[in-house]
Amino acid sequence: MSERLLRPIRSFVRREGRLTDGQQRALDTLYPLHGVDWQGGLLALDELFDRAAPLVLDIGFGDGEALATMAPAHPERNYLGVEVYRAGTGQLLRHIEHEGIDNLKVMLADAAELLREGIPSGSLAGLQLFFPDPWPKKRHHKRRMVQPAWLSLVADRLKPGGFLHMATDWEEYAQWMLELTEAEPLFENPHGGFAPDAGDRPQTRFERRGLRKGHGVFDLMLQRI
Ligand SMILES: C[S@@+](CC[C@H](N)C(=O)[O-])C[C@H]1O[C@@H](n2cnc3c(N)ncnc32)[C@H](O)[C@@H]1O
Repeated sequence: MSERLLRPIRSFVRREGRLTDGQQRALDTLYPLHGVDWQGGLLALDELFDRAAPLVLDIGFGDGEALATMAPAHPERNYLGVEVYRAGTGQLLRHIEHEGIDNLKVMLADAAELLREGIPSGSLAGLQLFFPDPWPKKRHHKRRMVQPAWLSLVADRLKPGGFLHMATDWEEYAQWMLELTEAEPLFENPHGGFAPDAGDRPQTRFERRGLRKGHGVFDLMLQRI
């Protein structure tokens, strides 16, 4: 089989150019302190933090501003943020360092791979996916993070009673998410449809961008049966 056919479908395209010296320095000095080096294989999640607490995985935190607000607001949880965008990862590392956030770690990795290979079954208290790339063109829908197989995987990685919180400003993707979650028998939707508000989710950078363009905001909050 040709290499092209073997290449996995990714939810992102790496467009990032060179980092500035400051961004590179933040990664070099702060990643060893607050980052998680994942070389493949199952992660020992209970060794990531100094203390045991329910773990929430945040996929695609962007510039990390919302996650840096959320983690200190929930001192009873540990958070692991995973991103492929190095400049944003550098920014979140700086928040963690300067604000002394001790319940948040970051990882530079493909979250789809991490979920498949690194996160043990039944180990997460929650998973949040805020404003994932909507891939609006039909021929790109296969790149969307939310797919039936991804939802089954998330259901497997969550503990019973764990939560999945997703948000998007792209209405058609919101409907897609809603329909796919309705088809996944391991999720229960206490709201029946979209949630009435954002719950404990702070406003994110991409949310603000969507609002400026006149988009609506759709939150879906599901519970693992
Ligand atoms: C539209 S942005 C939203 C960022 C942030 N959640 C917000 O609301 O401001 C989507 C982010 O997901 C990240 N992303 C996309 N696919 C990813 C993957 N497979 N693993 C990790 N991050 C991913 C992108 O790099 C990007 O920063």
